[in-house]
Amino acid sequence: MLVIGGLAAAMMAGVSAPAAAQGTLNLYCSVQVEWCQAVATNFQRDTGIRVNMTQKGSGETLAQIRAEAQNPKGDVWFGGTGDPHLIVAEEGLSEAYQSPRNKELQDWALKQYEAAKGRSVGVYSGAVGFGYNKELLGKKKIAAPACWADLVKPEYKGEIQVANPNSSGTAYVIIATLVQLMGEEKAFDYLKSLNANVNAYARSGTGPIKAVARGETGVSLSFMQDAATEVTAGFPVGYNAPCEGTGYEIGSVSIIKGGRNTDNAKKFVDWALSPEAQKIGYEVAKQYHMPSNKSAPLPPGGPDLTKMKLVNYDFNKYGQASERKRLLERWDREIGSLPR
Ligand code: F6P
Repeated sequence: MLVIGGLAAAMMAGVSAPAAAQGTLNLYCSVQVEWCQAVATNFQRDTGIRVNMTQKGSGETLAQIRAEAQNPKGDVWFGGTGDPHLIVAEEGLSEAYQSPRNKELQDWALKQYEAAKGRSVGVYSGAVGFGYNKELLGKKKIAAPACWADLVKPEYKGEIQVANPNSSGTAYVIIATLVQLMGEEKAFDYLKSLNANVNAYARSGTGPIKAVARGETGVSLSFMQDAATEVTAGFPVGYNAPCEGTGYEIGSVSIIKGGRNTDNAKKFVDWALSPEAQKIGYEVAKQYHMPSNKSAPLPPGGPDLTKMKLVNYDFNKYGQASERKRLLERWDREIGSLPR
C-alpha cells in the first residue's frame, strides 16, 4: 500500500502546489502507483483540490471500504477491476452520480453504470493475457504460451506466476474468465493443473508481470496492458492473447457513500471521465488501458480489445457479492490450500 499526501505528490512530480486551496479529496486508487500519483497531481493542479491518495489492489480496497462502512474515510475510488466496484454498489457503499460526461463514453463503460444502478462507471478497459520473458524462455527452450491449454503442459512447471484472487481483481477476472470459457467444473480442474506449474501467487495483479520483467519467472497471467508497460520500459517481455478467447475488465470509478467530500468526489468523476484526464495514464505513466471516453485516443501500440476474441463477460453475475464469495471460497479450498 502507498499513501501519499497531495502536496508531496505535487512535489515529487515537480509541479508547484495550487495557489488557492479548494478543500480536500481522499482518493482510493487501484491502478499502478505511477498512474495514481499522476492522477492525484494533475487533478490537484487542475482544480486546486488537495488530494490524499492511497493505492491498494481492487480486492484490498473493497475490503477497506467495507471495513470503513460505518465511518467512511475515502471519498472516491478510482481504478481497479469493475466486479468489486459492482459489489460496493450492491452493498450500498457507493453513491449514484450521473456525470455530464456520461454521454461521451463507450457503451461498455455505460454497461458498468447500468449494472451498478448509477453508482459506478467505466474509465478504462483491458483484457487478460499471458506475459512472458523472451530471454528466459529462450534460454530454457520453452515456447511462448499462446493458448490456455499450453499453460498446463509439463514444460511450464515452476515457470508461471499469477496473483491471489482474494487481494487482486486481476486474478478474480481470470477465474471468472475461465469459468465462462470452460464451465465451472472444468475451470477448477484446469486451475488445479495450473497450480502444479505456478511458483507463486502474488498479492497484486501486476506483481507477476513485474516478476517476468525482472527475469524472476518465465510467464505471468496478467492484463495485457500491464505487459505493454514493461515492454515500453525496455524489458524483454512479450505478451499474447489466449487463442481460445479471453476475459476483460471494466476499470471503474465510484463515489464512496458517506465520504466527507462528496462534492469534490463528483468533480473528480467528471474530471476522470474527460479525454484530457484519460490521456494521462499513457502520457505520464505509460499505461496502455483502453480509455472509456470516445475522444480519448487508444495508446499507440497497446493492446486493442476490438481485435481480440473476448468472452461475453457477465458483469452482472461475476460482480455479485455472493458469486465472488462463493468462487473465492472454492478457490481457497481447492487451489489456495494445495501444496506447490
Ligand atoms: O494496470 C493496473 C491494473 O492491472 C488495472 O488494469 C487493474 O484494474 C488493476 O491493476 C487491478 O489490480 P489488482 O489485480 O491488484 O486488483
